Amino acid sequence: MKNTYFDLIDQSYYFPQEGFDLKKGVLSFNGMSLKYLIDKYETPFKLMYLPKIGEQIKKARNLFNRAINKNNYSGSYNYCYCTKCCHFSHVVKSALKEKVHLETSSSFDIDLIFRLFEEGELTTNTIVVHNGYKTKDYLQKIVQLNEMGFKNSIIVLDSKSEIYRVKKVAAKFDGILKIGIRIAIDEEPQSAYHTSRLGIRPAEILDFYKQDIHGDGKISLKMVHFFVDSGIKDSVYYWNEFNKAMNIFIELRTLCNDIKALNLGGGFPIRNNLGFEYDYEYIINEIVKNIKEKCQAANVPEPDIFTEFGKYTVGESGAIIFEVLEQKKQNESETWYMVNNSLMNTIPDAWSILEKFILLPINKWNNEYTKVNIGGISCDHSDYYNSEDFNQQLFLPSYDDQEKEPLYIGFFHTGAYQDSISGYGGIKHCLIPAPKLIIVDKDDTGNFVDFVYRNEQTVDEMLSILGYLKNTKDHG
Ligand SMILES: Cc1ncc(COP(=O)(O)O)c(C=O)c1O
Repeated sequence: MKNTYFDLIDQSYYFPQEGFDLKKGVLSFNGMSLKYLIDKYETPFKLMYLPKIGEQIKKARNLFNRAINKNNYSGSYNYCYCTKCCHFSHVVKSALKEKVHLETSSSFDIDLIFRLFEEGELTTNTIVVHNGYKTKDYLQKIVQLNEMGFKNSIIVLDSKSEIYRVKKVAAKFDGILKIGIRIAIDEEPQSAYHTSRLGIRPAEILDFYKQDIHGDGKISLKMVHFFVDSGIKDSVYYWNEFNKAMNIFIELRTLCNDIKALNLGGGFPIRNNLGFEYDYEYIINEIVKNIKEKCQAANVPEPDIFTEFGKYTVGESGAIIFEVLEQKKQNESETWYMVNNSLMNTIPDAWSILEKFILLPINKWNNEYTKVNIGGISCDHSDYYNSEDFNQQLFLPSYDDQEKEPLYIGFFHTGAYQDSISGYGGIKHCLIPAPKLIIVDKDDTGNFVDFVYRNEQTVDEMLSILGYLKNTKDHG
């Protein structure tokens, strides 16, 4: 009896499932024939399926609004898209179609907002939450945004020292700057450090507020922010950090009537294996219920809830498709499927933080299955992928070298962070520009000579790659 790859998947998971199906024996992604795209464009290629972005936003928004009604919660829910997850104009514009608000993380991010505003993609009513380290440039552009009428721009303080820089720019601004405070959380026990470097230590927050914020007529504290960066999970650790943050929120709220918003950051998971189970509805209801209970017990008004989902918004839209160039048997138990690009260059999180993605063959589902390792064609020994989530071995269809059609495979749900971290086309994580490159040499007489080979990357260079400049090529 033949054990086909289809049988393996059929017996192990619910299949077909949301986004994945077989059409005439070939995998389709969100209803789109991948064979059609392979024939049309040839592999390797990256794929971004834009309609999924709107679906994800609607799903989370509906669940939060349902939980708000169910719990008779008096605050509102506000969905912000965290731009650092994927800055491409087609992606951010797809999110903006759903009337999302935005979260920024660096100076160039504000240029991106200027462009979107010029194009009429957002209005001065859009809430823009500014996280990240506030460099001089970043702060100046945030003030510019305020001067343009963005009345809902909120500068979330990442450290105590930022308040002095904010106060300096606030003094010159004809109006009041809205600010938030980010609470630094304690990391999971297995983490390499104890307290997150992002945010202000919980023990210092109340005194900081009393000494440096209270009574200052040029700034107004509107938001409390905390982000458990290992994700929103129904775990003892998550609820512990959540409760600690809620206690600080309540203490601050009793001191400061201006605070209206509680921002939970990002951290919603996405499907990274076909057996993924996560009860979004339950978690969202628990979050809303817990905020309400804690506020009621302390007799403080229920805040508007903000989230900044990045990976959740765009992760499931992305895929990367390869052809298997060759199968290489290196010993009795190890077979390598060599694909026609580099995994380190295209899904860098798989190498750097051992992130898992859904891996599926596009064709040959009726062939028998076999255990494989996937190898990239770079010469780096780390350029491989060989286990699924929970360290499970990797299985793909076996094939005979004589078969006419090559085996095609795809990594799915790769739409978040992979482009910026791999520097696709020259973009950078959080749009932090590439620094200038200085060359030092010695001349014939042994004296040092130095020169600038390339200057720091400019805003226009970055925004052009991302599709925000009118002369941008290659984006239809
Ligand atoms: C402040 C902040 N908000 C939101 C996010 C988005 O997180 P995720 O992609 O897990 O939703 C990040 C990610 O690093 C972040 O630093």
